[in-house]
Amino acid sequence: MCGIVGYVGGRDAIEVLMGGLRRLEYRGYDSAGVAVIADDGRLATHKRAGKLGVLEADLVAEPLPEGGTGIGHTRWATHGGPTDVNAHPHLGDDGRLALIHNGIIENYAVLRDELLAEGHTFASETDTEVAAKLVGREYAATGDLVSAFRAVVGRLHGAFTLLAVHADEPGLVVGARRNSPLVVGLGDGEQFLGSDVAAFVQYTRRALAIGQDQIVAIRAGGIELTDFAGRPVEGEPYEVAWDASAADKGGWSSFMAKEISEEPEAIEQTLLERVVDGVVVLDEIAEGFPADVLSAVTRIVVLGAGTAAYSGLLGKYAIEKWAKVPVEVELAHEFRYRDPVLDASTLVVSISQSGETMDTLMAVKYASERGARTLSICNTQGATIARESDAVLYTRAGPEVAVASTKAFTAQVVALYLLGLHLARVRGALTDDEIRGLTDELRALPAKLRTVLQTGPEIRELARSMSDTRSVLFLGRHVGYPVALEGALKLKELAYIHAEGFAAGELKHGPIALIEPGQRVFVVVPSPRDSTSLHPKVVSNIQEIRARGAHVLAIAEAGDVAVLPHADEVLRIPLAAPMFEPLLAVAPLQIFAMELAAAKGLDVDQPRNLAKSVTVE
Ligand code: M6R
Repeated sequence: MCGIVGYVGGRDAIEVLMGGLRRLEYRGYDSAGVAVIADDGRLATHKRAGKLGVLEADLVAEPLPEGGTGIGHTRWATHGGPTDVNAHPHLGDDGRLALIHNGIIENYAVLRDELLAEGHTFASETDTEVAAKLVGREYAATGDLVSAFRAVVGRLHGAFTLLAVHADEPGLVVGARRNSPLVVGLGDGEQFLGSDVAAFVQYTRRALAIGQDQIVAIRAGGIELTDFAGRPVEGEPYEVAWDASAADKGGWSSFMAKEISEEPEAIEQTLLERVVDGVVVLDEIAEGFPADVLSAVTRIVVLGAGTAAYSGLLGKYAIEKWAKVPVEVELAHEFRYRDPVLDASTLVVSISQSGETMDTLMAVKYASERGARTLSICNTQGATIARESDAVLYTRAGPEVAVASTKAFTAQVVALYLLGLHLARVRGALTDDEIRGLTDELRALPAKLRTVLQTGPEIRELARSMSDTRSVLFLGRHVGYPVALEGALKLKELAYIHAEGFAAGELKHGPIALIEPGQRVFVVVPSPRDSTSLHPKVVSNIQEIRARGAHVLAIAEAGDVAVLPHADEVLRIPLAAPMFEPLLAVAPLQIFAMELAAAKGLDVDQPRNLAKSVTVE
């Protein structure tokens, strides 16, 4: 949601800003704009509703003057529709200051009234313009952009990243953040700011995440970091683990297609150096969570939203079975509003690809404030949720650009499984041999997943044959249930088709009423090889819906012949231990949703109304 780029240096700022905004497009937006301090000292801005191409075409037809200082923004509308006027930047100090914003200023109405009473006028309906006018007013009084920021940011409630430039201070971009991301790109004689590192990684891989309630001033020669009170703060630079090519399509038809193809590697990377001689070694959480602390945990609460929450459900099955600790999984946005019971023996595990999801961030903060210990599973280095947690276990899926989460989900499940096995060891719930058997299974997964991905063309044909379908149901039991939920979410968000995931056992308690002749139903079928398997029960469920006319698409293990007489189509996955089947079964459903969306001519990477990083509540 909202992409932010800032630049100071010797390059043409507009080129840097537009390139950065392109790389942040995946976050989701509906208007865009830029501001540059031209070499002749003028502040020049341009902004347009619609996709970046609209702004780009304008800038080609009527280029802004060249300059080496600028800010750029993609806006996901909150206050006021996606119009030219509401797009950022917004202006202050009689048009000499330009400001961009990500987040929501909750007390903007009060502040706006204050400014109106002083005679200020507003062009837009946005909360952002209030911030621009406030900073502009302070600048007029102090003549210093950093001081003007300091005077204003403490008065703003809610979540914000703000960047501003002023015509009287060329060579300076000032930024501030609270509950919303901002990262510095450290260059040589040039500096960058971005909502995330994708904004500048083509120029530098040295980054520094701005902490909560901090102000940063970037100049070509360096950066100054302070807290909101003006006290100097020491930042922690880090090296971005991937290069610009990792965030390119690399010849694939979509980022989503590329990211699905990267799932085996995401598993390999997430396991790398964390399984040594069959033992799970999670050194990175050892300081925050030494063995005695993990042994004393009485309960685990897993928090996330959307796909991340579904990966959490899979984690629950694994952690309870292996480590024998009770696990609850909760949607982060519900969690803090119901007065949950928390104490120091509760381990709160948050899951987030972006590490910036506001709902999850607020839930983590809430848990910390109430004395729980917090561990995040996160895919983005230096993200806010990771920084707010007592420890972080990074998934190493690489940058995920498509709005629909795929390889991040796979990596999250693997990270949760590693956590479960680590807990099982320190708590003595599994023997070393049992753990070794399970880690062997984990390490065998990438190769198996590669064979699943080879069935892509078959799934594409199936999807094409169903492009007129208006409703699809997904059923699963045990670990197949989260897979069903995830399959339904993928289809909804990508193909705009009504889709629901159900626990198959729940069918006869209501959802079976939805079954009518021709209703398409995907069923995740567990392996029949395990004597405790729910295979016979799932086959019975299939028979029940088939008897009522459902068209059944089964995802079943290779060699499962018992399912054949009951399914209309069967998609095969290789043999795996029951707990690991979801990591194979989810891929066909991801591919199916992507191919069906493509068959309908939809934008697979940026589905309507959605943002990759949901940074507002
Ligand atoms: O960045 P996060 O993992 O915290 O994002 C959580 C959800 O917004 C995300 O998984 C969303 O549901 C995806 N669009 C699903 O494909």
